[in-house]
Amino acid sequence: MSKHIKDRVRLAIIGAGGISAAHANGILVHRDKLECVALCDVSEENLKARSAQLGGVAAQFRDWKKMFADFSDRIDAVDICLPHHLHAAAILDAAAAGKHILCEKPMCISLAEADRIAAAIRKAGVTYMSAHNQLFMPVVQETKRLIETEAVGRVRWLRSQDCFMLGSALKDQWRAKAKLQGGGELIDTGYHPTYRLLHLAGAEVVGVRATMGRYVHEIEGEDSASVQVLFTNGVIGEILTSWVYDNPHGTHQIHVIGEKGQIFGSGSELCLLPRGFSEPAKRIMPSVDTFAEELKHFADCLLHGKRPIHSVEEGRAVLEIILKASENARGWEKYAPKKAG
Ligand SMILES: NC(=O)c1ccc[n+]([C@@H]2O[C@H](COP(=O)([O-])OP(=O)(O)OC[C@H]3O[C@@H](n4cnc5c(N)ncnc54)[C@H](O)[C@@H]3O)[C@@H](O)[C@H]2O)c1
Repeated sequence: MSKHIKDRVRLAIIGAGGISAAHANGILVHRDKLECVALCDVSEENLKARSAQLGGVAAQFRDWKKMFADFSDRIDAVDICLPHHLHAAAILDAAAAGKHILCEKPMCISLAEADRIAAAIRKAGVTYMSAHNQLFMPVVQETKRLIETEAVGRVRWLRSQDCFMLGSALKDQWRAKAKLQGGGELIDTGYHPTYRLLHLAGAEVVGVRATMGRYVHEIEGEDSASVQVLFTNGVIGEILTSWVYDNPHGTHQIHVIGEKGQIFGSGSELCLLPRGFSEPAKRIMPSVDTFAEELKHFADCLLHGKRPIHSVEEGRAVLEIILKASENARGWEKYAPKKAG
């Protein structure tokens, strides 16, 4: 059973690779609330790099089961930054050890795993937070506030997109294998616009339609996806996401159309265009480190007994959209200019 945490959360990072550097930075920024007490990775090089970044972490493990067996008393929570296929196993072991959990996206790669995770978290009574860092973008937060205060009336249409040219070769990475990645680009970068869409729509999903393509990357999954989602409140949502082209010129990361006007924006710029006006009111939002904000939110939830903004339920709902999109898009590979890597 989890214990109440009084002052600082003692955190173990599991998976000390690429993105854990941003998490480690968040821990350092919020050192009044968080402390990294252990690292776990199979790579000596990554253990060394993360330990150096954090100013020296003496407790280093190659196997998280051994960490939970030998070091459990010293850890309150884990921060999981592993390849996708390992998320479920690490979450289940952490829950069994009574640890609170922050896990990088996606929560896991199948709905059966998601249901096992939900049951394990309930049984252990621990807090689970889905690491959906882009919910901490001021543009997303302000858009949500504008929707809730009915600045554009009832919402009818929503778009959430994230397209860019990914320079790095994925061929020999875990991301190239559908079984390890759990799919292709949509469950990776495309996961961000998907949870943003779900958050802004504020309703359950009725249906998902999608199509996909693979143009450049030598991977088994798609490198681009276009998805349509119908929500129970009648909102139609669209996701466009790609590793092989930029956002279409003139479009926005987020776009909301309601009965009284539109909200749209990208990066730190947010616009409100009431119906009948030709020029939008433009605002520049502050730029924030979304990873540091995410780590702070996790710590605050543990210190004050709050539910994280996105937990198991949202982690499952986002995954369900992505899996349904992949299912609905089946057959796209036949027309993909680039064959599977
Ligand atoms: N939020 C974001 O913007 C963002 C960006 C990049 C990655 N991510 C997510 O972060 C996670 C990790 O991605 P990454 O890019 O850091 O990958 P990565 O490959 O750079 O890092 C994964 C780490 O896990 C380690 N590892 C592999 N198997 C292990 C095992 N059995 N036990 C312990 N350690 C093991 C690897 O050695 C590596 O250090 C993924 O879920 C990914 O989707 C999120």
